[in-house]
Amino acid sequence: MTSQIAVEALTKSEAEKELARLAQVLTRANVEYHTADDPQLDDATYDALKRRNAEIEARFPELKRTDSPSEQIGAALAEGFSKVTHAVPMLSLANAFDPDDVMEFDGRIRKYLGLPADAPLTFTAEPKIDGLSLSLRYEKGRLIHAATRGDGAVGENVTANALTIGDIPQQIANAPDLLEVRGEVYMSHADFEALNARQETAGAKSFANPRNAAAGSLRQLDANVTKSRPLKFFAYAWGALSAPLSDTQMGAIERLEDFGFSINPLTALCNGPSALLAQYSLIESQRATLGYDIDGVVYKVNDLALQQRLGFRSTTPRWAIAHKFAAELAWTWLQGIDIQVGRTGALSPVARLQPVTVGGVVVSNATLHNEDYIKGLDSKGAEIRGGKDIRIGDWVQVYRAGDVIPKIADVDLDKRPPEAVPYVFPQICPECGSAAVREPGDAVRRCIGGLICPAQAVEKLKHFVSRAAFDIEGLGAKQVEQFYADGWIKEPADIFTLKERYGTGLQQLKNREGWGEKSANNLFQAIEEKRKISLDRLIFGLGIRHVGEAASNLIALHYGSWTAFEAAMLEASTGQGPAWDDLIGVDGVGSVMAGSLVNTFAQERERASIDRLIAQLDVQQVKRADTSGSPVAGKTVVFTGTLEKMTRAEAKARAERLGAKVSGSVSAKTDILVAGPGAGSKAKKAAELGIETLDEEGWLSLISDV
Ligand code: IVH
Repeated sequence: MTSQIAVEALTKSEAEKELARLAQVLTRANVEYHTADDPQLDDATYDALKRRNAEIEARFPELKRTDSPSEQIGAALAEGFSKVTHAVPMLSLANAFDPDDVMEFDGRIRKYLGLPADAPLTFTAEPKIDGLSLSLRYEKGRLIHAATRGDGAVGENVTANALTIGDIPQQIANAPDLLEVRGEVYMSHADFEALNARQETAGAKSFANPRNAAAGSLRQLDANVTKSRPLKFFAYAWGALSAPLSDTQMGAIERLEDFGFSINPLTALCNGPSALLAQYSLIESQRATLGYDIDGVVYKVNDLALQQRLGFRSTTPRWAIAHKFAAELAWTWLQGIDIQVGRTGALSPVARLQPVTVGGVVVSNATLHNEDYIKGLDSKGAEIRGGKDIRIGDWVQVYRAGDVIPKIADVDLDKRPPEAVPYVFPQICPECGSAAVREPGDAVRRCIGGLICPAQAVEKLKHFVSRAAFDIEGLGAKQVEQFYADGWIKEPADIFTLKERYGTGLQQLKNREGWGEKSANNLFQAIEEKRKISLDRLIFGLGIRHVGEAASNLIALHYGSWTAFEAAMLEASTGQGPAWDDLIGVDGVGSVMAGSLVNTFAQERERASIDRLIAQLDVQQVKRADTSGSPVAGKTVVFTGTLEKMTRAEAKARAERLGAKVSGSVSAKTDILVAGPGAGSKAKKAAELGIETLDEEGWLSLISDV
């Protein structure tokens, strides 16, 4: 049977069969877990099957199925949400695209209300946030539920997830008995970039833009996933109310702010259409630096009595309109292609463009991702841009989507110069001349030079001093580049001998351009302070491919000390045996990350460099939280049914703080089942297995003393 064969040994046809089998087994398991609430597979088996599926897909990317289980999370989870019927439907807005449309909007309203052209008519103008709308129902000041827009009439109940968003209060004071607050959930550019970097490190799918990332993050069945994704919320409207908030739109928004909601700071009052257009220009001019995506400006009649009179068409209000920004697209010449070499040796092609303004920002570079992308192929070998390749000299269309990094959307073949030739991607590293190779299943070509490659060495050093790693004050990317160029710092260990070498003598730091006695001493002191470093920061700082911040933390917790960690990495170098099994057993460590870790330690040059660093450091052991005295430490707990005193997310977090492992399914390994009202098959199964079952009260009194 194919399932017994190691992934590395599978032939292509065996792999294809195995992927089909795994798709079937995992889909069934998802239905049993999410829909039927009756899982038949234990967590470890399920995870192992999923990992095997991912490993086969990584080896044979071309065999990845359209119904691949690695892509299924969203869909399967969506079925898990209960439905909420909106007390007041969630409508959309009509659009305006140019100043004439805005004039007509004002004219239509005046006509409808019988207002003369010179009568004052005030509007609010505020950014149209490019996220997804959410309705929050508060009863007597308490959040009752949070629901997505859905089809406008019925949405999905995402209360547990909404509660993980810092901008959404669980409790509000002095509010009407019934208050539905509406607004937009979104993700900032910075958080989006960081999330995608984490997704990439974990081998998970990255998101196309912040809007998709926000939607994907909010619609997770496991609120803990949502919690780990930094979402934000702007309130801008309301649904059902037991008492009016104000008699104006602006007054109502200010009330929402008083209740503790974030409202957009660019919301302004405007007298008439010219003032609206001025606010539009102002908001558009700030668009590029806001740090989050907006796609237009929303105008609303300020007087709520007039809004009431104007009312609605079938799906849009008469009293509001969305003035959309023009698409952020522009055409320009591709003047060259540069290759940048990153920390892990990845060769990234960058388009050098004749500078052009795209949506208010001057763009002169765009990412070209990798060599297949330049050829007109995606990561699965399918055509993009209709299969058109990109050549130096081409007339290209640039766009800024949600991402901050501009991309190339299209190539105009009619304008291609006759002398333009297909781009030849370098097979050697432009920085060090080492071979640049592509491993099967990897779209990226990488320099194999390791530390002898100056680009990799500098990028590694920058990573080493970065905020989440050693975070040395006064030693940033710029200083690292200068010190590297002059040969003062070639590897992390050199940072800690800098004072010894350049604190006294002929050549001194304080005499360097841009430095003085004080700044030099400050730097030496900042470096001294970081000799004492926690194991997790050290592991992250090494900049090992695939090993991100979260994984470094878990690895550090698992091994406790540098000595234990290093010994284990050396022992696991064969890719099998107890040390290897132990490593891939660490939460969040898959075989790809494990392979990367042991490889680093197996390379002599790398290891010698790490040893030199360790000799300079005082590595702090990482302590586990003290859970002694906790009655549930080490126990596996399952929550089911409705919890009344706390949310699932809260219950889980609290149990974990007390040293318990919280699982989603009941198995022979379960120690305690906490069952609230409505508990179904899990309670039955626990009873059959003779597992201790508590109600919420019982659980709370069990853990109340700690
Ligand atoms: S007001 C009755 N204000 O745009 C109209 N909507 O196309 C209530 N949106 O579904 C919506 N920013 O998701 C309003 N400042 C803003 C908005 C905004 C974004 C979204 C919202 C709505 C869509 C309408």
